[in-house]
Amino acid sequence: MHDEADQIPERYDLIFFGGTGDLTWRKLMPGLYQAFRHGGLPGTGRVLAVARSEMDDDGYRAWLREKMTASQWDEPFDAQVFEAFAARIQYLAGDLAEADTHARVARWVAGGDAQAVVLYLATAPSLFEIIARRVAEAGLNDERVRIVLEKPLGRNLDGATRINATVREHFAEHQIFRIDHYLGKQSVQNLMALRFGNTLFEPLWRREWIDSVQITLAEDLGVEGRGGYYDQSGALRDMVQNHLLQLLCMVAMEPPVSNRADDIRDEKLKVLRALRPYQPTDVSRFVVRGQYREGSVRGKVVPGYLEEEGVPRDSHTETFVALRCEIENWRWAGIPFYLRTGKRLGARCAQIVVNFRPLPHSIFEGAANRYSNRLVISLQPEDTISLHLMAKASNRARAEQGRLAPVALDLDFRETFGAQTIEGYERLLRKLIAGRLDLFVRLDEQLAAWEWVMPILDTWAQYPDPPRPYNAGTWGPSASATMLAREQALWPEEI
Ligand code: BG6
Repeated sequence: MHDEADQIPERYDLIFFGGTGDLTWRKLMPGLYQAFRHGGLPGTGRVLAVARSEMDDDGYRAWLREKMTASQWDEPFDAQVFEAFAARIQYLAGDLAEADTHARVARWVAGGDAQAVVLYLATAPSLFEIIARRVAEAGLNDERVRIVLEKPLGRNLDGATRINATVREHFAEHQIFRIDHYLGKQSVQNLMALRFGNTLFEPLWRREWIDSVQITLAEDLGVEGRGGYYDQSGALRDMVQNHLLQLLCMVAMEPPVSNRADDIRDEKLKVLRALRPYQPTDVSRFVVRGQYREGSVRGKVVPGYLEEEGVPRDSHTETFVALRCEIENWRWAGIPFYLRTGKRLGARCAQIVVNFRPLPHSIFEGAANRYSNRLVISLQPEDTISLHLMAKASNRARAEQGRLAPVALDLDFRETFGAQTIEGYERLLRKLIAGRLDLFVRLDEQLAAWEWVMPILDTWAQYPDPPRPYNAGTWGPSASATMLAREQALWPEEI
């Protein structure tokens, strides 16, 4: 939405604390590079990476080039473009907890003449409070400054509340950008457009016509050397509390009165508040947690979670969660929302499936089943929307039998609009520089999401049974399918 309207100022400074961290080289620098390459970073922006390792500017650029060429790219890496991009990047070595580091950062900012200054905290959350305090002491919290908080923001509601309170002591809410990179994905934009740019679906988008909604965020990768972080987090904190709940909000929210940040965020908040809270006894019925064992992914044998580097051999951390929840409001009461996410699953796939109600009565042979009418919004790997319908079969044998056959109306955004769509971090980085909050999470939303997941975390802590095992390369523990089978429902891959 409004990508074109996002005004990038002529002069801006982007500062990445945690400049040598995983997030920086895997997501942020590639996103910035893409924006640069696509002409999305006009003006004379400067970039500063701050981290502890001793390096000079050229050393950092060389290090970054090596990391970035080794990672996955949709488009071929262009060395020439990278050189021009890297020329904008400088590096400052320092301890992020030390006042002196931030004084030096402030001097670097003062050496330019930026209209907007973005402080990106791409560090462990344990450093968020001290960095917020230190940058403010160094005078880096005036109206030009935006502070960006990456997830995970705390490990629970108390932690998230405390970190936010500290940051709020030094920055106003409109200066705080809480990232959920799923909100930057093109398909999430498409979902907004589908729902609020068309009249077609709105009358159907409610309990009278929808049978269930299923959201899957599946990865075929494992923890990829992040075992140490991941084991402290687990799938519920890593994916459900943020990405899955944000997508749920996008599907379920009421039409906002405008596409201004607070109008959208008000509606998302209402969904989070309407989520029925779990009682401790609900958790074992409606939430399944799993952990992967050795298995085979794309024909390759991969180790189990407990064999991954940095993971304690007796870890009970979940790498898979499936849950059933309900939204208690007029639009959705009684309609199940099934959400699931996991590592080392059968495929990389992020998908929202809206299942419409089955026919009340059929006049056709071999006709519709419960899943005949579905809207499938695929976020990745492809960017598509498919509307599944029943049609008269046109091949002779079936037609003569008067049978219906399932067909799909497919819209492929890459094919329709060209491959150069703006992706996740690229879009969000542009929004940050432009100072537009519409794709960022407001404090009350973030805390409401934590509040809702807390009974699950508390119940798991109280009854520390091990998560259910599943083989890498499958769709999670069988209990996930069983939870749906109790309601005669199926996950999309079972249909
Ligand atoms: C991150 C999680 O937020 O999202 C990772 O911390 C996960 O564990 C990633 O792999 C998935 O993002 P994407 O955009 O690759 O689906």
